[in-house]
Amino acid sequence: MSLIGLTKGTDLEKKIDEMWKGEAMAAAAYHAFAIVAKEKGLLELSESLMKIAADEARHGGLYAALNGHTNENLSETLSSMANGEISASEQIKELSNEIHKLGFEEAAQAVKAAAEDEYGHGTLLKELVEKYL
Ligand SMILES: [Fe+2]
Ligand SMILES: [Fe+2]
Repeated sequence: MSLIGLTKGTDLEKKIDEMWKGEAMAAAAYHAFAIVAKEKGLLELSESLMKIAADEARHGGLYAALNGHTNENLSETLSSMANGEISASEQIKELSNEIHKLGFEEAAQAVKAAAEDEYGHGTLLKELVEKYL
């Protein structure tokens, strides 16, 4: 039985939506704690917090899928996501420049690395659509 949209339209829909958003927030929160731990030199703690964050992101995906916040037309959706990632990458590079202008060089570099990740997601998604869909 497919999980997609299973709880949509049921009495659980609202609760599952709250879980989806809560898990997404938790994923970011644990990654932020991981940055705190890293800055304190607690590298193993930081690694463990990132693993918890990955679990929370996965849980968020489960709840999103259960309430149908996804699309089964992977070719169309992932192609469109690819373009979104690439244009986000440009905007985030701009943000990195703005942070650089404030004189926060380390933060600017970290945000620039995020922009490069987004670009990489875009090109990878294009390759994956080509290869599998
Ligand atoms: Fe969770
Ligand atoms: Fe991305």
